[in-house]
This record gives sequence, C-alpha cells and structure tokens, in this order.
Amino acid sequence: MADNEVYVAVENLTYQYPDGTVALRDVSLTIHHGEFIALIGQNGSGKTTLSKCLNGLFKPTKGRVVVDGLDTRHSSITNLATRVGYVFQNPDHQIFNNSVWKEIAYGPRNIQLPEEEVKARVEESARVVGLDPSLFDTHPFFLPKGIRQRVAIASILALRPKMIIVDEPTTGQDMKQSLEIMDFLKMLHEEKGHIIVIITHDMPIVGMYAKRTIVMAQGQILADGPTREVFSHPEVLEKTFVEPPQITRLAQMSTDLGFSKDVMSVPEMVDQFRRIVGG
Ligand SMILES: Nc1ncnc2c1ncn2[C@@H]1O[C@H](COP(=O)(O)OP(=O)(O)OP(=O)(O)O)[C@@H](O)[C@H]1O
Ligand SMILES: [Mg+2]
Repeated sequence: MADNEVYVAVENLTYQYPDGTVALRDVSLTIHHGEFIALIGQNGSGKTTLSKCLNGLFKPTKGRVVVDGLDTRHSSITNLATRVGYVFQNPDHQIFNNSVWKEIAYGPRNIQLPEEEVKARVEESARVVGLDPSLFDTHPFFLPKGIRQRVAIASILALRPKMIIVDEPTTGQDMKQSLEIMDFLKMLHEEKGHIIVIITHDMPIVGMYAKRTIVMAQGQILADGPTREVFSHPEVLEKTFVEPPQITRLAQMSTDLGFSKDVMSVPEMVDQFRRIVGG
C-alpha cells in the first residue's frame, strides 16, 4: 500500500465515559500509511481514550472511527485487533497469562489460527522484539519491566496489525533504555512498514523520532502537523502545559542572535552556531 493513503479516519468523535465524563469532544483526524506520530498533551487530555477508540475497545458516543475501511461500531474487537495494536501504558495491565509463550500466543489463538501458525507467529514476534526463547516458559511477573514491555509488544505484533500505538513507551526508563525501545519502534516503522503512534510526555524523544505531532488538550486537538512546525509554536503548547525540548527553547530565546525557532536537536543547534559564528 502506498504511503499517504488513509488508514484511519476519525470523524467528529465524541466519547463519554459511563460516569458522564466527556473525554473527547468532536475530534477529527486522519492517519496515513507511512506515518510516525507522537500524541502529546497534559495528563487527562484524552490521549489514552483516543487510542482505545482507535483499536475499537471503546465505541464512539457520537461520530465515527473508520479503520482500514471498517467502521469500529460495526466491527468485532478481534477483527480490529488485527489492524490496530495498542500497547498499554503499563504492560502489567495487559499481561495476564502465566508464561511468556502463552502471553504472545493468546492473540493468534483468539483469532483461531491453526496451532502451527500460532507457533510460527510467537517465534517470529519474539525474534523481532529480541526475546530469547529460553524465556518462553517464564512467568512474565518474574521479568524486569523492560522485558515485560517487550513481551507486551510481541503479543501485539503476533496479530500483525498495520498500526501500533504504544502508550508512554519510555516512562520510568533511563535514557539508554528509552533510546533502545524507540530505535526498535523506528525499525518496525522503517523495515516492517508499521504505522507507529507513540503517546509520550518526553519532548526530546518526540523531536528525535516523530515526523508528525498531535497535541491534545481537554479532549480536543489543539495542534496537528509536522513536529518541527508544532514545536515552533510554544504559545500553543503552553496551553496544554507542554514545553518544547530545551534545545528548541534555547534557540527560540536566541532568535535575536540569528537562531531559528524550529531547532530540534543539539546537532542542528551546533550547525546554526557555526553558521552564525562563521559569519
Ligand atoms: N474509566 C474512566 N471513567 C471516567 N473517566 C475517565 C476514565 N478514564 C479516564 N477518564 C477521564 O477521561 C479524561 C481523559 O483521560 P485519558 O486517560 O484519556 O487522558 P490521557 O491524556 O491519557 O492522560 P495521561 O497523560 O495521564 O495518561 C480525563 O478527564 C480522565 O479523568
Ligand atoms: Mg494516558
């Protein structure tokens, strides 16, 4: 399928929780093949709720969500799970089987694939996320969080969804682990052709990896565009208590010296510095 073709269309989506909380208000957006998106915004702005509407776990209160041509209101969760995978904010809310093998096999078994195909998918997904088969019989509970997250991702990959949403992949991890998981998602994007959506509060990570950024506030989309453009409007981000990366802010505070306001990384800052000093 060609890049830029629409994969998900969200039209005037409103979502209300049973207790009356309106978490999404009249949200519209489209997601295309070939995209790597960051979904950002303050706590409670609706990022997780939107993701659960995209994978069909929640059905729209008003409006519609169409995934790969399927209206989520009229499609089964199993059918949608093979199109949009959602990796939970906390892998422990997702993992519930008593061995790594069973956890990864759960999805393929649930869609009633023959046992031979289930085995092939478990082995393939484990290989892609770098899980050693010697861990297959281990209870996920006994594994470190980083590995449990890989198990959670492998169990999603086993259903081969085109689009993968990862809710806060780097929370609670140090910089080295964060880059490792992000490089892994980048590999899935570039080599395996997955559409990736990350939900994160980590702005340097957004600057490094996401081509497009969607900013949410109070259940609505405040800004949506190329990350560089979104970061160059700090006054918009401020409304949802998000600050661009420090290096971007440094450049934005120094535009009078000749720096541009859309610097995204340290190497870009160094380039501009050389240009300015070099006169
Ligand atoms: N199960 C629920 N019942 C009622 N209201 C809920 C429920 N889950 C979330 N909410 C509310 O819906 C709104 C959106 O929440 P959501 O979890 O989607 O935000 P978020 O952007 O993912 O936040 P965070 O960054 O903290 O993960 C918030 O007002 C939240 O309190
Ligand atoms: Mg959330």
